[in-house]
Amino acid sequence: MALFKDFRDKRDTGPSARPVPDPWDPTANDSQRLPSPDDGVKAYGNGSTGGYAGSKPGAAEPSSAFPMQGSGKEPPNGPESRREDTRPVKEPAIPSFQFTSTSTSKQGYFRRDTGPATEKLWEVFTPSRPQTSDQMFVGRRAVIEKIVCAIEQEHAHVVVYGGRGIGKTSVGNIIAASARRAGYHVARFTCDSETSFERLMRDFLRSLPVDFTDRSSRAMGLPNESFDQFRDLESVGPTDLSNAFGSLIDRVILIVDEFDRVNNKDFYRKMSEAIKIISDSTDLVSIVIMGIGKTLDDLLGQHLSIQRQIKAIRLPLLDNAELEVLLNQGKVRAGIDFDDVVRDSIVTLSRGSPYYAHLLALLSGRHAMARKSNIINQDDVRAAISDILAEFDPNVINAYERATQTDTNTFMADIVLGAAVAPFDAYGRFTAEGALKALEGYTGRSYEILNISRGLARLNRDGPHKILEKFGSPGVPATYDFVNPLMRQYVLLRQVNQHGLNQFDSNNV
Ligand SMILES: Nc1ncnc2c1ncn2[C@@H]1O[C@H](COP(=O)(O)OP(=O)(O)O)[C@@H](O)[C@H]1O
Ligand SMILES: [Mg+2]
Repeated sequence: MALFKDFRDKRDTGPSARPVPDPWDPTANDSQRLPSPDDGVKAYGNGSTGGYAGSKPGAAEPSSAFPMQGSGKEPPNGPESRREDTRPVKEPAIPSFQFTSTSTSKQGYFRRDTGPATEKLWEVFTPSRPQTSDQMFVGRRAVIEKIVCAIEQEHAHVVVYGGRGIGKTSVGNIIAASARRAGYHVARFTCDSETSFERLMRDFLRSLPVDFTDRSSRAMGLPNESFDQFRDLESVGPTDLSNAFGSLIDRVILIVDEFDRVNNKDFYRKMSEAIKIISDSTDLVSIVIMGIGKTLDDLLGQHLSIQRQIKAIRLPLLDNAELEVLLNQGKVRAGIDFDDVVRDSIVTLSRGSPYYAHLLALLSGRHAMARKSNIINQDDVRAAISDILAEFDPNVINAYERATQTDTNTFMADIVLGAAVAPFDAYGRFTAEGALKALEGYTGRSYEILNISRGLARLNRDGPHKILEKFGSPGVPATYDFVNPLMRQYVLLRQVNQHGLNQFDSNNV
């Protein structure tokens, strides 16, 4: 995998150039933390707790991640080379409650079973937590290489975008760990609807170790005013940044996750200005923006006129081979087993989503263990599917019902099923032709392409039926994708729940 090179090797490494322990770094204390039901809320952004990763247990990074250059967080000369740090030391994770409620709640299937049998399962299959190390992290080598290259060689800013649950935060964790080991200072910020530019930048500047600023002025006993003044400021505007960053001597990466959640135009305008200013004034600072969007415009909208300064990278879905690796690695780690038929069912139902692969494996594993077995069978998968459907997002269920309601027949339900079973590209797009063939293969009936196209057009039209988005340019066959990234799996899970996994031949899908 492409990794950051340790740039400390290539330049003067005086005593003050050593990496300083990062107060915002969530390493160590949190890395052994087990998942809690609360994680589901955090990872999916329903809570409103924005802030640096140091205060966000879900973003913990274990110290033993990738085998690569650099030896981790310890300064080269051992602990005595650390400077006095008066900032607060991170405390151990706060113990979490283990209470298991019997009432049903939203996402109740994230309720943790107690007992050692399922402990491993919960550690390995983590639908509600991003990956924090390479141990269960699959695929994404090309994307990570692009990000590393953009930052390291092009000194560019990066925008990583894609659907909810596709793996953005996980990529951010891997990038952060790799960069830290190479000697970068990495600061991470998770936005919420209330995030302001001032808070983000102030916290960022405060997180920068003093040693990352002008060493020469410190050596001469001069205060590093151009930088220090910002540490105490309550408010930092975009134009203050060029001064602040002018005194940096080491490379810094600021990862801003859940960028789409901010509900404040001023934030986006100032971020745009800041990125331009930073691009003009220093190549030591790279900003990595992550958020939900099918297109760059979805994420940046008209807010950011920074296309020239950034490298945009859309995260693709995982392919089936990668999902197979995920499940095969997971079963070894969790001490469970399943045959290829079960594995293929989970892979096919996941439709490229690592989130669904984790969720189905976790929930079927629980059913197996409830039978006192560590071998997952198709009945366990079926039981997991009905668990998932029982608590599915009501917005998706309502949208499905509106889309398939017709006065006359079930035709629209067939069209939606065709859309869900159609082969799709790396970004989830399918064609009318693909939907037709897959639907015929699946139902054994034949359909007219014209009717399929009309049906898809109806599902794309604005109004209560709309569940699809159409893409395309003149002369190229149109492609479609679901507006809501959970819809494809919902339709499939629903179908399998009604008609059984046996009739469900993964070769047809
Ligand atoms: N490359 C990967 N390998 C294995 N699991 C992954 C990978 N990427 C994401 N996941 C899993 O998928 C789910 C969603 O990942 P996350 O990074 O939170 O997505 P996003 O930030 O895009 O919403 C989590 O369960 C995470 O553990
Ligand atoms: Mg995320």
